[in-house]
Amino acid sequence: MHSPELRDRTVLVTGGAGFIGSHLVEALVPDNEVRVLDDFSSGHREHLPEDVAVIEGDVGDPIALQRAARGVDVIFHEAALVSVTRSVDAPRTSNRINLDATLLVLEQARQEDARVVLASSAAIYGHPAELPVSERTTPDPTSPYGVQKLAVDQYARLYDEIYGVPTVALRYFNVYGPRQQGPYSGVISTFLEQARDGTPLTVDGDGEQTRDFVHVSDVVRANLLAATTDRTGVAYNIGTGRSTTIRDLAGLVCDATGSDSAIVHEPPRDGDVRHSRADISSAREHLLFEPRVSLEAGIRSLATETSEPPVSNLEESHSVDSSGGVADEPIR
Ligand code: UD1
Repeated sequence: MHSPELRDRTVLVTGGAGFIGSHLVEALVPDNEVRVLDDFSSGHREHLPEDVAVIEGDVGDPIALQRAARGVDVIFHEAALVSVTRSVDAPRTSNRINLDATLLVLEQARQEDARVVLASSAAIYGHPAELPVSERTTPDPTSPYGVQKLAVDQYARLYDEIYGVPTVALRYFNVYGPRQQGPYSGVISTFLEQARDGTPLTVDGDGEQTRDFVHVSDVVRANLLAATTDRTGVAYNIGTGRSTTIRDLAGLVCDATGSDSAIVHEPPRDGDVRHSRADISSAREHLLFEPRVSLEAGIRSLATETSEPPVSNLEESHSVDSSGGVADEPIR
């Protein structure tokens, strides 16, 4: 069974100039009419292809959103303040952008009869009792960011149930890849920058915390599948099912870049999740989602600055060499 492809539609990508959004735009452009709503607070115009209609504005501004969403079939809602730390420092600001703006997006979709595929997060699970974590696990967020994502995840389900707006929430685990940059970007881009500069890699806490790192090209595919699935009103974990400690990640980055940067330990972060690993069986079964890029291949391609997406089969790479800090056994 193959999912129908998304083509000949008018689609809006909020946060379309950002890290995940711009990769998604690139994938959508050949077959669809694509609009981008972005305030360029962290996104970059040069990441956008030429034949995209850009509406410059805040996703929390109803007028800008209304303009951008007029007549669209699908809204991919990627605009967010993605930093967990920032949400701890400024809960109301992140709430405005992550939660209030998402409600506007859902309302707008209701007006336009559009589908919404939105970015939820593994952060909703907090410290799960069991790993890998499935969608049935009771959420228990440890940060304002996690609370905000939990709320939008649940609003998405309700908008489907109550108002008949088809929605799919994708619970991203730790997404990485080209164009992830800036002071609040993820640990892989931070480590790569430090390794390249020859400065110490800053590991928060003991570095034994784990994450399930998923390449942005896999996340883009999950979005395209979510845009056409019949099974809406549902949330799916989007990760790889494998996890790596932050300390091992530091080693992988040093190996891939040939850097001899030292590793220094910083105090642990407030609100930090300890362990995270996705059970992706639901996305596999219902979306036919299959992650393709192993962490080793993904980091290698970032280290060598290849703009081509890394080609590596996850299964293959792990069965040949599972030494790269990748835990194949459940972490308890
Ligand atoms: C990330 C995402 C968040 C997403 C969540 C899902 C980013 C910026 N945030 O949060 O949007 O919803 O995954 O799981 O991508 N660390 C260091 N040294 C550093 C930077 C980070 O040790 O220099 C550690 C952190 O303490 C943390 C881990 O690396 O334990 C991951 O941090 P980060 O990349 O910021 O992502 P999350 O907080 O997991």
